Amino acid sequence: MPRHIAVIMDGNGRWAKQRFMPRVAGHQRGVEALREVVKACRTLGVEYLTVFAFSSENWRRPADEVSFLMSLFLKMLEREVAKLHQNNIRLKIIGDRSRFDDKLRQTMQDAEQLTAGNTALTLTIAANYGGRWDMMNAVQNMLGEHPELARGFSEEDLSPYLAMSDAPEPDLFIRTGGEQRISNFMLWQLAYTELYFTDTLWPAFGQKELEKAIASYQRRERRFGRTSEQLGGGQNDKGAPHA
Ligand code: IPE
Ligand code: IPE
Ligand code: MG
Repeated sequence: MPRHIAVIMDGNGRWAKQRFMPRVAGHQRGVEALREVVKACRTLGVEYLTVFAFSSENWRRPADEVSFLMSLFLKMLEREVAKLHQNNIRLKIIGDRSRFDDKLRQTMQDAEQLTAGNTALTLTIAANYGGRWDMMNAVQNMLGEHPELARGFSEEDLSPYLAMSDAPEPDLFIRTGGEQRISNFMLWQLAYTELYFTDTLWPAFGQKELEKAIASYQRRERRFGRTSEQLGGGQNDKGAPHA
């Protein structure tokens, strides 16, 4: 079982368009798909689920879609956090919060605080997140605390400052909606992640689809630079990249 699954939830707009509905109806159904996937991960024993909800580039969308997404995010937090807490799920949010309004920022912080001690599953929502932002932000914060590192630093110096530094790197990456690109998601953390792409649009994605992705992952050989022979018998998951 993958310990950490990262998902680009794509295809909401097309799902709605196919049904002659406004794009935002797809986002609404997308929340339901997320609910099902969270539940499935918890049941299957996945420890970390990280989902891309809003990229730093999504501000380029029409203003009414952006503001719908912001209010959907707020409503979702208000409505779902108690349930997440009951189910022993820890909620984390990564990304640049400075562009969100005070109410949303406060709700995010409260949700994280409430669920901080939960242990069944860590659900991380990437909101106004970008992989390049993450790396730049990490370098800036690292140098703020350790100006002497300006002369040179290692991966080990930097990594505690990256978002998700407390989680293992994703084992499995899933992108729904048919596009085969990373769209500035976790650029650093996906270095050795197994990639899975499906044409299924996010609102139509659920437990069955998730199990298919996991089954594909389980057939892969993760070599981390080694040869197949070194791994002995072509089995899955023989150690981390730096081991
Ligand atoms: C993904 O669905 C959700 C967000 C980016 C917020 P899209 O809205 O990108 O849906 P498509 O790709 O237009 O179908
Ligand atoms: C990526 O989806 C971001 C999220 C799912 C939040 P997009 O639909 O915005 O990505 P591009 O622009 O097609 O690459
Ligand atoms: Mg899209």
